[in-house]
This record gives sequence, C-alpha cells and structure tokens, in this order.
Amino acid sequence: MSLLLKNTSVITCDIDGTIIEDGAVGISNGIIDYVGSMEAYMAEKYDRVMDLRGKAVMPGFVNAHNHAAMTMFRNYADDMKLMDWLFNKIFPLEDKLTEEDAYWASSLAILEMIKGGTTAYCDMYMFMEKTAEAVIQSGMRAVLGRGLQGETAEGLDYRISEALELYRNYHNSGDGRIRVNLAPHSVYTCSPDYLKKVARVAWEIKSGINIHLSETVDEVKNCIDKYGMSPIKLADKAGLLNENTIAAHCVVVDEEDMEILKEKKVNVAHNPGSNMKLASGIAPIKTMTDMGINIALGTDGASSNNNLDMLEEMRTATYLQKVVSKDPTALPVDQVLRMATINGAKALGFDNTGEIKKGMVADLIVINTQKPWYYPKHNVKSAIVYSGNSSDVEFVIIDGRIIMEKGQVLTLDEERILYEVQRRAERIMS
Ligand code: NI
Repeated sequence: MSLLLKNTSVITCDIDGTIIEDGAVGISNGIIDYVGSMEAYMAEKYDRVMDLRGKAVMPGFVNAHNHAAMTMFRNYADDMKLMDWLFNKIFPLEDKLTEEDAYWASSLAILEMIKGGTTAYCDMYMFMEKTAEAVIQSGMRAVLGRGLQGETAEGLDYRISEALELYRNYHNSGDGRIRVNLAPHSVYTCSPDYLKKVARVAWEIKSGINIHLSETVDEVKNCIDKYGMSPIKLADKAGLLNENTIAAHCVVVDEEDMEILKEKKVNVAHNPGSNMKLASGIAPIKTMTDMGINIALGTDGASSNNNLDMLEEMRTATYLQKVVSKDPTALPVDQVLRMATINGAKALGFDNTGEIKKGMVADLIVINTQKPWYYPKHNVKSAIVYSGNSSDVEFVIIDGRIIMEKGQVLTLDEERILYEVQRRAERIMS
C-alpha cells in the first residue's frame, strides 16, 4: 500500500531542525519516497491520500528505556526510596506475576505508548516471549532483553539460557521490527564475574547490551566501596560498553565516567521523570550532549514514572536541564526533539528510522494542532514540546502501516486489555 500525507507541517527532526510548511510525505512499501512541497498530479501516484490541514507530521517517538510489563504495578507503591521500593514492594509482587499477566501488562504499555505517539521502544524484563507476542500483534517496533541478574560465572544460569532462547526465537522477528539484546540489570544485582560472562555471550552472538548504570548516589558509593571503582568503570572493565550498549540513567557520573561513555560510544537513555520521582538526581545531560555522547530519552517503567508519555518526558528533560544549569538556553527544542526521536532510533539500532527523509522507514505520527494550546501558530516544534499533549496524537504509522487512526489503535483490543489488567492486578495485590 502507498500513502500520501499532504497539506501538513512536516517536522523532519534533521540536524538543521527543518520544517516544511504545507508539505507532503509520500510512503510506498513502508519507505518514505517523497518529502517536500505538494506537486501537481502527485496524489495520483498513491493508493490513499490524507489531507492533514492543521496537523503536523513528525517521526514517532522512541522510548529508549522501559519495563513494559511493570504497568501492572502502576500507582501501587509511590513516594518511596529506590532500593526500598524495589526490594520490599516490587520484587515480592514480581514473584506473583505469571507469563499471561506479563502479556496483558505489556499490551497495556504498548497501547499507551502507541496512543502517545511512540513507534519504537526498548524493554528489559522477564517473560519476554509474551512481550514479544504483544509487540508483534500491535505492530510496534522494539528492542527486547530478558533482564539478567546473577552472582557466578560458572555454567550458564537459567536467565542467560532464557535470553539466548529469546534471541534465537525473536531476533529480527515481526518483519524485522524486533531486535533482541542482552540486559544485565545493574552492578548491584550482577557480580563482576557475571557481567563478564554476559559481555562474552553478547560478543559471541553479536547482540547489543542494555544495563542500568549509575542511577543513584547509593549505587555508586556501594560499588566504589565494594569494587574500588564506579559502576561505569566496572561495566567497562567487564567488557560491556560499546556503540551497541544502552546505559540507562547515568545520573551520578564524574568526568572520568563521561569520558568512558564518550570513548566507547555508549548510548545513554535519560529518564528524567523516573529520576525526579525516585529523587535519584539530575543527569548532566547538557554536559554529555556537548561532549558528543548520544543521549536518548526514556520513561522507565510505569511504576516509577508513572506514565509512558514521551511528550511529557521531553518537556521534563528540557525544564530540568534549564533549572539545574540556571540557563534557559539549555536543551533547546530541536535538541530535545532529536533525543526523543533519532537519537533513540540510533541507540536501539534502528538506524533507518527516527527522521523524515527520503529512503527512511516510515515510522511517523500525526499531531492535531487544531487545539487552543497551539494558537496562535508561530513555531510548531515549540508548540509541541512546550504546549502540546500526547492525546493530540491522531495517527501512528509504523513500518508504513497505519497502526492508529483518529485515536483508535487498530491492532489491539483496548477494552479487553483494560479489563484483563484490572482483574489480574487485583489478584496480584490481594
Ligand atoms: Ni529501569
């Protein structure tokens, strides 16, 4: 099928921040084959033409750090410290989670993400086959990793075996929309020997890495006390850091840590909402961006955010950097838009998405700017970042296929998902 989007503001998210007013985007066989102004007779070349007057088209958001099935624990344990929250509230509930629960909770997360304009995301959790099924059904694009934690390097523990099985069964599945990586949880749940083993396995199967690093002051302090070095140095020594690595958080980092991230071309997933809610601190995003480190944006799991709203995350990210640097020019609109789109696509290894450009894969969203908070119309990019709502997203296109039309997700049964998650959450929490 081919599709032409016409009479619309096209936010390309290219390096120059280009906007094409009254523009058009053509899509054939999932690939963007035209970007520019509307030309005579071109509509005839496409199967379907959508007149998007008063709307804006931009690349879909890429949520670079998430634990989708944790929507099951949303709004359950709030206003707590990270370790207390994780070890005393979340881990005991996770023992009661079944794979079917994980399927429905992942479906809920994917439904929420699509409705808010997210077209690709990165996940680290358990029961990932079930999440993969939900991803395939929904039409979403994703990087999935079975969360790994362990002590010894002896033998192959069951989590690594599960990760390898996930890799064999789902890497490049869903018409290439799914990638599988290895996801060691953190330096406080994995020993250095175990991390080395994960790095070796990743090297053998040529997969990427997804890990939480330097999220809190306590994590860094404990790591230095125990191993004599920061989590980032420990991960580097274990062989985990390279251009295919996503390091979530990187909040408590010193100059040496940032030099390592830069030198090893590590992708950082910044999660300002989660970092604020758990009072983890403020990642030095402006400094790391200035150093040339690829910074993507994520929401983290819904139980520490508590939503999966990338538009809100963009606004939080830019406000936070402005406040901490006491500099209102910090993290301007174009930069934060790229963090939420092309930087994330690069971090996830979906290099042919994240920008509206001829030859790129069509992962696009349409935002309805015919709302009071977009008027008067000056700069549509600023309006989206500073005044917009994720509920303004009307259409979502992934791989050239319309996944959401006029706010209705075509691939998922919304009513059923809400019902299943509610009844399962009641069982788990009882
Ligand atoms: Ni996380």
